[in-house]
Amino acid sequence: MEVNAHAAPLDVARVKKDFPVLERLVHGKRLVYLDSASSAQKPLAVIESMSRYYETTHANVHRGVYEMAQEATRLYEDARAKVARFIGASSADEVVFTKNATEAINLVAYAWGRKNLGAEDIVVTSEIEHHANFVPWLQLRGETGTRLRFLRLGDDGMLVLDDLGLLEGAKLLAVTAASNVLGTLTPVRLLSDAAHAAGALVMLDAAQYVPHMPTAVSDLGADFVAFTGHKMLGPTGIGVLWARRELLEAMPPFLTGGEMVRDVRLDGFTTNEVPWKFEAGTPPIAEAIGLGVAVDYLQALGMGAVRAHEQALTAYAMKALKEHYGDEIVIHGPASASQRCGIVSFTYRDIHAHDMSQVLDQAGVCVRAGHHCAKPLMRQLGVSATARASFSVYNDEADVDALVAGIAEADAVFG
Ligand SMILES: Cc1ncc(COP(=O)(O)O)c(C=O)c1O
Repeated sequence: MEVNAHAAPLDVARVKKDFPVLERLVHGKRLVYLDSASSAQKPLAVIESMSRYYETTHANVHRGVYEMAQEATRLYEDARAKVARFIGASSADEVVFTKNATEAINLVAYAWGRKNLGAEDIVVTSEIEHHANFVPWLQLRGETGTRLRFLRLGDDGMLVLDDLGLLEGAKLLAVTAASNVLGTLTPVRLLSDAAHAAGALVMLDAAQYVPHMPTAVSDLGADFVAFTGHKMLGPTGIGVLWARRELLEAMPPFLTGGEMVRDVRLDGFTTNEVPWKFEAGTPPIAEAIGLGVAVDYLQALGMGAVRAHEQALTAYAMKALKEHYGDEIVIHGPASASQRCGIVSFTYRDIHAHDMSQVLDQAGVCVRAGHHCAKPLMRQLGVSATARASFSVYNDEADVDALVAGIAEADAVFG
């Protein structure tokens, strides 16, 4: 992890200028993009790096011996090294490029899970997971009889730590580092240590964590960490699985075909070294390059400054929403912004989240409405949908003010 501890506070007016999409209007209004937890916007540097690659250097990687193919390979592998440095990995070989976080988690469930988990083995996960970290384990349970246990959500919006006895006899803890609905930051180190003490490995869904928090995989204490490029100012189509090297080496491949093999004969094949053993077929080359530039961008801002900014903005939003709407608004999740990433899910009176989102859209404000791919959690909360505002480096208090004003308009229409 290269946290720039001396980074200045974010100059958001300056940052906004780096994101071309923020210049557009929506329904004649300034675009107020509050849906970065779904997918973040991209700075010009990321967009240009991908165009430049296609304009000047496009060739397949790891294959050609001609100069341009070697340049493409260098750019692709440089991106892997940047991501490795960004998360404090001890080697770039521990960084596997996938299509997204969902594929990274499936890689663990298929390649590690099918080898190591059988009937009666136990996986512990939690009630607050995104479907990406539920369904692969439900599927595994259906196929192998592996048992699932669930850490519960407490009334305070945090995981119930009294449940850690569930780890007894478990082989894997697969848990989120930050909830995409509640923003809840889980006590990752404590969970990792408890799982390891019980003899289980740890897989973290860090899709909502890595884009917003200074991250060092060694501090998290996990064995596998999954995240996704498009939520961290990078392009869609690229995700990351970080894993300890010896685990990757012991795992069978996930997808098979070209690139992931060393030799192929009529009677079988041998696999390539890690990480390429897990990168079958032509990889997302331009996307990796774009992700590398997104990481450079975040690094230059300083992840400490990014976190400080997003936490302050979250605190501002929670306070403003409560001050304006009091008991009419329910903000789901932890009471303090320090316990959350930059996510604020809310329900307002009996106005459906989709109606809320549509009225906000008329004011130029983009928020996500729905179950957020976390249906078990929604059942737990006793709601079918919430509206969710989520923040990134290009948001400021004026964006929150637009949200607050937009809710009053929804109230006028539906209230
Ligand atoms: C917590 C969490 N995990 C996993 C994912 C899946 O990410 P992707 O769709 O990029 O695979 C998301 C996306 O919203 C998420 O919020």
